[in-house]
Amino acid sequence: MKKIAVFTSGGDSPGMNACIRAVVRTALHYQKEVVGIRRGYQGLIENEFVDMQTQSVSNIIQKGGTILGTARSKDFMTVEGRARAYENLKRHQIDGVVAIGGDGTFTGAKVFMEEFPDVHFVGIPGTIDNDLYGTDFTIGYDTAINTAMHAIDNIKDTADSHSRLFFVEVMGRDAGFIAVRSGVASGAEAILIPETKTSIDELINTLSENYARKKRSSIVVVAEGDDFGGAYKISEAIKGKIPYDDIRVTVLGHVQRGGSPTCNDRFLASRLGIGAVEALIANKKGIMIGEQCHKLVHIPFEKAIKHNQSLKPYLTEVMNILCSV
Ligand code: F6P
Repeated sequence: MKKIAVFTSGGDSPGMNACIRAVVRTALHYQKEVVGIRRGYQGLIENEFVDMQTQSVSNIIQKGGTILGTARSKDFMTVEGRARAYENLKRHQIDGVVAIGGDGTFTGAKVFMEEFPDVHFVGIPGTIDNDLYGTDFTIGYDTAINTAMHAIDNIKDTADSHSRLFFVEVMGRDAGFIAVRSGVASGAEAILIPETKTSIDELINTLSENYARKKRSSIVVVAEGDDFGGAYKISEAIKGKIPYDDIRVTVLGHVQRGGSPTCNDRFLASRLGIGAVEALIANKKGIMIGEQCHKLVHIPFEKAIKHNQSLKPYLTEVMNILCSV
């Protein structure tokens, strides 16, 4: 392994820059050449390669987003697109690639390696959703839950002043990880997630009981992928059926995807970045580098993708005891 490439792909997440930095610095530490690919798989197809040196990654560890840019590439889903990507990798004499992203990123890498097995891909989990099997945490999740928690704290202030019921929608297309942690940490009355069946009747009962106990402001945290629908849909469904007559909806949206990464995310990103380069040097391929109980682990792509991380029982236990629904 003489030359390694690194790219970020799919939705960005805070800590991706720290991870790029770790990959570049580790590669140079082991006397390997390293290049960055701009805009993920799309840049791979369009030959957007940039030489990386220590200076290329200086002063980025604290920055959100990704200096390499990212994309969700439709072209890479085609045989022609992947063939062009392969030609470019060969032209630049790259034998190992570090792909930082989520399940879409690893699915792309897996398909590519089935067609071109001489290129070794190693993945690093970077997504705010934390929905990848095989790692306790993904890069960006810790920052996102803190961003969401602070936003909900702010909403609580105004909800309390105006005696209002708020539905706050947080990200999480298929998973309730962001909703559970940010909801518990901000003392939400109810948390609605895709993993459990949302009962509108139960929600109505809970909010009505709270109101009867003179609780005049309430927060319901809703994961965007909740089985009943997002925050707007749920607020519509209960309108007129609860004593609260002043209801507001806030969708936090992409504010959760940006911002300076937390210490935990920077450290995780740094450790996984080192692990990925060391795995490539050890001739490993087709794996995601994860962290479980503080240990680095190698998870085959097909496992990381298929077995979407399910909520750990302790999370639902905490939620069930401290929240009403
Ligand atoms: O996968 C991360 C994520 O932030 C999801 O929580 C969200 O549904 C999605 O990305 C939004 O994607 P986009 O930025 O393409 O709208």
